[in-house]
Amino acid sequence: MNKKVLVTGGTGYIGSHTVVELQNEGFEVYIIDNLSNSDINVLDGITGITGKRPAFEKIDLCDHEKVKAFFSHNPGIESIIHFAAYKAVGESVEKPVLYYHNNLVSLLNLLTCMKDFNIPSLVFSSSCTVYGQPDELPVSEDAPIQEAVSPYGNTKQIGEEIIRDTIHSCEQLKAVSLRYFNPIGAHPSSYIGELPIGIPENLVPYITQTAAGIRDELRVFGDDYDTPDGSCIRDYLHVVDLAQAHVVALKRLLEKRNKGNYEIFNLGTGRGVSVFEAIESFERVSGKKLRYRVVDRRPGDIEKIWANPALANNEMRWSTKYSLDDAMKSAWDWELSYRKNK
Ligand code: UFG
Repeated sequence: MNKKVLVTGGTGYIGSHTVVELQNEGFEVYIIDNLSNSDINVLDGITGITGKRPAFEKIDLCDHEKVKAFFSHNPGIESIIHFAAYKAVGESVEKPVLYYHNNLVSLLNLLTCMKDFNIPSLVFSSSCTVYGQPDELPVSEDAPIQEAVSPYGNTKQIGEEIIRDTIHSCEQLKAVSLRYFNPIGAHPSSYIGELPIGIPENLVPYITQTAAGIRDELRVFGDDYDTPDGSCIRDYLHVVDLAQAHVVALKRLLEKRNKGNYEIFNLGTGRGVSVFEAIESFERVSGKKLRYRVVDRRPGDIEKIWANPALANNEMRWSTKYSLDDAMKSAWDWELSYRKNK
């Protein structure tokens, strides 16, 4: 099996955890990242865990010439895991052109290079956002795709379509799209974790920053939803479980165990957790009382969604191993360790 793999966005949150798991499995990892939403010091964290520094090049994937030059200088790469993308939902509503340009041009450049340099295998970072508010829960991969509620979500939908059409047009190419539910937590070593720039948009970094005294209080966006406790429900999975799923998906392609040249898998626990349950979990594992206040609903929020992960469980033999409390504990440990070492 060829073990040279390119990870785009490899210094980002999910990317860095995946690089660690790839290295643990003996892969030789090359990272491309433009560092627009990540820190170069993440490479030290990765090296601290695995003892091996991944190759790194600061390249903007929208720069086709530079991406081509990268593949010319690094022959022998046969697979790509593509994380690099903008991901702030709110910002995407304000700056749609920026989001469509960045997320789609980068993907098109990569696909062009895959054809030109005979790189057959792609794992693509997609999202449960493609389902919108599903009619049936838990949601399976064959549920209808709904109109995206944000330009960010639309870039994931269009990205999947572009990949599907490209795979159909070229027998040599194959791809897997992984639809993530809500990744949270950090590596148990606390060497790497989520590093939001500015005010976090996502729940768990907002919780840990509030408990660390950086934010005054968490705002719970709505308690009048049609759910048991009135708050929204999501499927939160530990980022290390998610990272390991990428290694499994990649090996499936490299070992030619894929059924069809384009496959799609949900990655989640299969369990729905409300915002209040997430807060309780945090308080349990940290021993801290969290300051929070219920405010109005956040525009664009889905009421409830959780995965049917049966396809990934059965076909990929992957399932989550960590609990919600494990994930919360690791997120809190990371917050404390990051603040201490800053
Ligand atoms: N929430 C709060 N207060 C906050 C932040 C979040 O109550 O300060 C609630 C939200 O209302 C939601 C839940 O916590 O009910 C989770 O919110 P997140 O922002 O963490 O995540 P989302 O489910 O909204 O998902 C978003 C995008 C996804 C993307 C995901 C991870 O919609 O496409 O973030 O980046 F994949």
